Parts: sequence; C-alpha cells; structure tokens
Amino acid sequence: MVIAQRLCFACTSMIASFGKAFVFVDLLYSGNIARPARLNSKKITEKDAGPSLTVRGNEFIDGIKKNLEVICPATVSCADVITLATRDAIALAVGAKYNVPTTRRDGTVSDCGLVSLPEPSLTVSQAFQFFRNKGLNMNAMVTFLGAHSVGVAHCGFFQDCLSNFQGTGKPDPTMDSALVSKLFKTCGTQFRPLNSDPTAFLDQNTSFVMDNEFYKQIRVKKRVLQIDQELALDKSSADIVSTLASNALGFQQNLAKAMVKRGNIEVLVGNAGQIRKKCRVINK
Ligand code: HEM
Repeated sequence: MVIAQRLCFACTSMIASFGKAFVFVDLLYSGNIARPARLNSKKITEKDAGPSLTVRGNEFIDGIKKNLEVICPATVSCADVITLATRDAIALAVGAKYNVPTTRRDGTVSDCGLVSLPEPSLTVSQAFQFFRNKGLNMNAMVTFLGAHSVGVAHCGFFQDCLSNFQGTGKPDPTMDSALVSKLFKTCGTQFRPLNSDPTAFLDQNTSFVMDNEFYKQIRVKKRVLQIDQELALDKSSADIVSTLASNALGFQQNLAKAMVKRGNIEVLVGNAGQIRKKCRVINK
C-alpha cells in the first residue's frame, strides 16, 4: 500500500517549522537518540526508514553539531543537541519553559528495522500501545499529538478518507464535509510520489501556532489525519481532548511536563553509547 511504504515518521523525531524557528520533537526513538542516517552509504539506517523520509530540518541539527564539534569536539551528544533544541523551540513556539537534564549519550545502533512507527489510521488504543511501551500515559499521548497543531501532512496520508474511506467509496462520515471538499480539491484521488504530493495544514485554523486550537478543531470534526479525529471520538481520550481544548495554558503546561517525562526515558549515560561526531551516522 502506498501509504504504508511512505509511512510517516509519526511518533519518532519530528520537526516542524515555524518561520525561522524549529520544533524538534525527538519522541519515541528506539535507539535513544537522534536521527542517525548514513547519507551516501549503502547501509540502511533508521533515517532511511520510510517514516523518516518525511522528516524536515535535519540540516538544522547538523549545523549546530558541526559548530559544536569545532569548538568542543566529541563532548556534546546529538541527544543533548536535539533535546535542548526541542526545549528552546517549544519555548519559542508556545512559551512553555522547562528544564532538561544533559550529558546524555548517543545510541550506537542505527537500523531501519528498529524504527517501529504508528500509521495515521491507527485506533487510539493501537496508538496508545506504542506510547505505553515507552512509559507514557494517555494524557501524555493526547498532549504530544497536540503537536499536530503545526506542520503539514502529505495527501497520501489522508486522501483515502476524502473519497474512499475504508473502501466504502465515500468520505469518512466523521469528517466535516466542507473540509472534505476543500482537501479533495487539493489532493484528488491520484497517489503521487512524496516529492510531488501536495500537503495540507494539520491544523486548519492556526496552522503556524503551537496552541490548543488543534483540539478545538478535532472536536468539530475538522481533522486532517484520522488518528487526530479518533482522539476526539474515542472514549479513552475524548475527555482529555475536551479539557485541553478549553485550557490553552493547561496544554502548554502538559506539553512541558510530557517533554520532561519523555526526556527521562531510555537515556544513555556514563559509558553507555557514544558521542556521535555526526548526528546522522554512528562513529566508525
Ligand atoms: C500515533 C501517533 C502519530 C501519528 C500516527 C502521526 C502521524 C503523522 C503523519 C501521517 C504526519 C504527516 C507526515 C507527512 O505528510 O510528511 C504527521 C506530521 C507531523 N507530526 Fe505526527 N503523528 C503522530 C504523533 C506525533 C507526535 C507525538 C508528534 C510530536 C510530539 C507529532 C508531530 C508532528 C508534526 C510536527 C508534524 C508536521 C511535520 C511537518 O510539517 O513536516 N506527531 N504526523
């Protein structure tokens, strides 16, 4: 299936651009850190996994790391670079400030097969399994998915919902019909390669602001990704969605808390792992 081949990076490392700022959300990486990839190499790494193909902004991390290596070689891990960049980007985007521990180290495994990623058509309970395995609760999952308040999705991730939802030959009945028409005009029915696939804003209202508007939108069936709609409909997550929709500050606070929690999971310290010279590749 086309979508499966291009599967989104989903809950792994995510980068959303807000004008000049970037939000890095290194979320559920199995190898503890970063987005390792071997460009110009025959070896297939995590970064080459289908979902990673849609990640934007690796160059930003590469630039920071390159400068650090000049000033302070083999000292600051890619894990710390990404965690600190995420902290600062979230502070810039939503104003939520939080502290993160540093001196963590980078993973020594970079294998495409180790990247297990959720599809946008998952149910809430299937998606939750993925988060729970990483020690995160439902509240954290719903909060993290609020990151869909910014950024875009390629048509291939949702266009079946616009005209042939689950093989019915009709749009998803839980979707706002005006939005269906709008997105259909953008996407049509043709599946395209990723680099020529049109995109749509995940949050159709405040597309460039990391705020709680996303939750308001999904409550009125204005979702782009199916998993986002499911969050508002499923009884295990609907109450959390409703609370976050009505509490802008609460969303920011939850996001900061969830980031700190996530930052303490699967951390490599001491002599474990390594300090990568380049974030996309394990040291030789
Ligand atoms: C069940 C979990 C999730 C699923 C199924 C999922 C799915 C997706 C999909 C399909 C896209 C579109 C990708 C593209 O077309 O290139 C996307 C984009 C995005 N996701 Fe998720 N996601 C999940 C969780 C998360 C989490 C936890 C975060 C952040 C903490 C996040 C942040 C983002 C961002 C910022 C974008 C926009 C990226 C851009 O504009 O390039 N997602 N997600």
